[in-house]
Amino acid sequence: MAVTLEKIVPFGRSLDEYRRMVSLSDTDLGGKIVGVGDGPASFNAEMHGLGNIVVSVDPVYQLSAGEIEGQFYAVVDKIIEQVRASQEDWVWSYHRSPDALKEARVEVARNFFEDYERGKREGRYVVGELPCLEFGDRHYDLALCSHLLFLYSDHLNYEFHLAAILEMLRVAAEVRIFPLLTLSLARSPYVERMVGELEDRGMSVEIVEVDYELQRGGNEMMWVRPGVGRLSTG
Ligand SMILES: C[S@@+](CC[C@H](N)C(=O)[O-])C[C@H]1O[C@@H](n2cnc3c(N)ncnc32)[C@H](O)[C@@H]1O
Repeated sequence: MAVTLEKIVPFGRSLDEYRRMVSLSDTDLGGKIVGVGDGPASFNAEMHGLGNIVVSVDPVYQLSAGEIEGQFYAVVDKIIEQVRASQEDWVWSYHRSPDALKEARVEVARNFFEDYERGKREGRYVVGELPCLEFGDRHYDLALCSHLLFLYSDHLNYEFHLAAILEMLRVAAEVRIFPLLTLSLARSPYVERMVGELEDRGMSVEIVEVDYELQRGGNEMMWVRPGVGRLSTG
């Protein structure tokens, strides 16, 4: 087993990692994006620096920067040690080693902490949680969810996943979710059933290979759009 975690941890990734994980094009980056469960990722901070629009939603944003920082540093060494002990389960191409991975995660978190209080005041970091989001219908072009759904299949049941995806599809024109593996590196047991159920509800669902793989075998995202699945008459 690659990593075991008792609860969902605030661990974050960079804009470049987001671009790769969910195949964001320049056109995608110019749209209105909601990042659900962004935690201490620097995606929002970096996007803001480039003049792009991202709102991040996470229950952890009810905490201060110092409190999130405390949670991050309480788990980072333990996670890196688990990764170091299972190095063959990881692909060392983007991040070259467990030490480089730790450095990258710490740098991302620092960028997030620097931006966090100002971003909160500007409404870019919003307290909220799946499966209910406080946005109007189709408020966003794109909803992203990285390292929450499917990854934590042992913590969040199938019904939660379905409700969460339908809710993201309510607030955004499309949804992209990465990865499709669980913490133990198996494909989430919910993926196949979810594809079938979403298609039965008329959605178009694609499993897309992406240019990012850290968990070995974890280089796929789920791309969901409304209206062109099995129930479509078009
Ligand atoms: C492992 S972090 C991933 C952070 C970021 N998406 C990334 O990939 O870098 C998972 C995040 O999901 C958040 N989370 C947990 N339950 C949630 C829920 N029901 N709705 C939205 N976010 C949630 C946690 O607070 C945490 O910040």
